[in-house]
Amino acid sequence: MRNMTPWWIRVPLLFFIILVLMEYVIDSGKEPAIMVYPVARYFMLLVLLLLIAIELILHSVENVMFQTLSEDAKARYLASKSTPWQWQWGKNFWKKLTGNKPIEEEAEIILDHNYDGIRELDNNLPPWWVWMFYATIIFGVVYLARFHIFNGADQKLEYEQEVAEAQAEIAEYKKNAKDLVDANSVELLTDASNLDAGKKIFESNCVACHMPDGGGGIGPNLTDNYWILGGGIKNVFHTISEGGRDGKGMIAWKQTLKPIEIAQVASYVLEDINGKTPANPKAPEGELWVDPNTPKNQMPNQIQDSTTRVKDSVSVALK
Ligand code: HEC
Repeated sequence: MRNMTPWWIRVPLLFFIILVLMEYVIDSGKEPAIMVYPVARYFMLLVLLLLIAIELILHSVENVMFQTLSEDAKARYLASKSTPWQWQWGKNFWKKLTGNKPIEEEAEIILDHNYDGIRELDNNLPPWWVWMFYATIIFGVVYLARFHIFNGADQKLEYEQEVAEAQAEIAEYKKNAKDLVDANSVELLTDASNLDAGKKIFESNCVACHMPDGGGGIGPNLTDNYWILGGGIKNVFHTISEGGRDGKGMIAWKQTLKPIEIAQVASYVLEDINGKTPANPKAPEGELWVDPNTPKNQMPNQIQDSTTRVKDSVSVALK
């Protein structure tokens, strides 16, 4: 039993180890489990009580065994008990680290100089310092070889690599998370399944004001190329998501529709409604929309196209 860790180290240490283990095993999000789950608190209380109980039992076992010892052994036992506890391993380690001579041996390393009674010890360099010094030399050589001889990746290159990696990850994430469109990232959807879904959304939410063929009623005509709030998929997505001007009656549909649904219905409006000739078209409102992304050499066709559409709808209106 000599030199055993005393109970006031043993109990808190075991308690702490069990606490860390518990936190490691229980997944409680950002907060520690002991804060989140009351059960965890009771468990740790139980652990503490158990540890104390074990200490008490050990103590009484020791007592009982002590009674069975011969007088001689009793005395030896008490003597060993009365030497104060020392952390031998820690002490040895510290001695290795500092390389100090104990005070009793200082006479061996004292120098001859005597400056007005002040004398000098020829201590070794502390090993911790020497080790660190060697480590910096090794580091320096490796560094020099890596960055100045073999032109290894410097900060700039590392930064660029990490950005490229992150961008690839973002692209991958966006590909898998279709729900994650907004007015900036939305693209016109042209496949039949998305347009069908858009049609259903349009029929159940929008026809009351825009008419099933998009000719307009309370809301403006969606078939012409004149837009109050801007044409093109990004503007139309934005209008549907955020709503029209205050008091006009077009609500912000982001409350009811998911981003992907807004993209579907916006695509449906642009692909299947816009450009068709409705039964009762409302007069065009807003401004003629020219896609700013259209390459310059295609511009005239685009405008021509839309003017013929306008002419069509005007002639229909006149009929
Ligand atoms: C309660 C009537 C109402 C409903 C329902 C409604 N809208 Fe509108 N919508 C309007 C009005 C009114 C405007 C004009 C807003 C303005 O002038 O600011 C408008 C404008 C728009 C515009 C912009 C037109 C332009 O010229 O810029 C689009 C696109 C649109 N609605 C699509 C939809 C879609 C898609 C739905 C269904 C999800 C829908 N609306 C449901 C009334 C409605």
